[in-house]
Amino acid sequence: MAQHNRRNEILAAIGRAPMLSVGAARIIDLAARADHELDDIIDLVKNDAPLTAKLLRIVNSPAYGLLEPATSVERAVSYLGENTVVSIVLEETLGPLLNRPLDGYQSAGGDLWRHDLRVAIAAKEIALLNPRRCQPDTAFTAGLLHDIGKSVLSGFLRDEYHRIIDELMTRAIPDYTAGEREHLGIDHAEVGFTLAENWQLPEIIRMVIRHHHEPALAPEETRALVYTVHLGDILAMMGGYGTGTDNLFYRLDQSYVDWLNFGPGQIGPVMLTVEEKFTETLQVMQLR
Ligand SMILES: [Fe+2]
Ligand SMILES: [Fe+2]
Repeated sequence: MAQHNRRNEILAAIGRAPMLSVGAARIIDLAARADHELDDIIDLVKNDAPLTAKLLRIVNSPAYGLLEPATSVERAVSYLGENTVVSIVLEETLGPLLNRPLDGYQSAGGDLWRHDLRVAIAAKEIALLNPRRCQPDTAFTAGLLHDIGKSVLSGFLRDEYHRIIDELMTRAIPDYTAGEREHLGIDHAEVGFTLAENWQLPEIIRMVIRHHHEPALAPEETRALVYTVHLGDILAMMGGYGTGTDNLFYRLDQSYVDWLNFGPGQIGPVMLTVEEKFTETLQVMQLR
């Protein structure tokens, strides 16, 4: 019974979470469409003066070493690339949620955002091997948002996480989300999905958030993308970028092999590429 009370409390907390800015909602909406192009992103950025100013400032920072300063949105966006633009927009609008320490997962401020970036990069690399089934830039955007539910659930886990760890150690529960459901009546995937509904995020992104720990349950037309982020999530944790107490307490659904053009032998090489791109991306993000 206590569990149901917490569920209602958590649902109320989701209702109090910040809303997405209109500009960010438009960019995510576009980035989730399979047939979008960089020009569409450029058009949206052009209508957003503060974002334009920020992107120009980043691309013209000494770290980029451009010989001629970039003065147009076209040049700035082409140079930074869609993924960086989406990351900057998301951090701008959801920064307070993404960067807060996750006490309930015993992880420091910034850990969730670094995990999300790492998953986004890994998901894109996996998607590049499956471009017909899974648009790589959509995989990146979905990866950035997959764990957003943790930012709200964390506060409610503070007194529960050690019990969940005990149960995982004795194998009383199969994974971390089962512990969240048992102790709080809801897991971070459902919390994130509800947030995504409130924000009216595109259906495909909502499905990734909802099913990223149980990809087999995702609607068939979204399953390749969900498996991509599911695997990217595990690779990020294996690379040392989890979010604390739950790290690697999730199951890898081995059916990824059937859904993705990817086998266990490719994990090592992809992880090396992810490491390299992650370091580059962090450098750019620090320029903001
Ligand atoms: Fe997760
Ligand atoms: Fe994750």
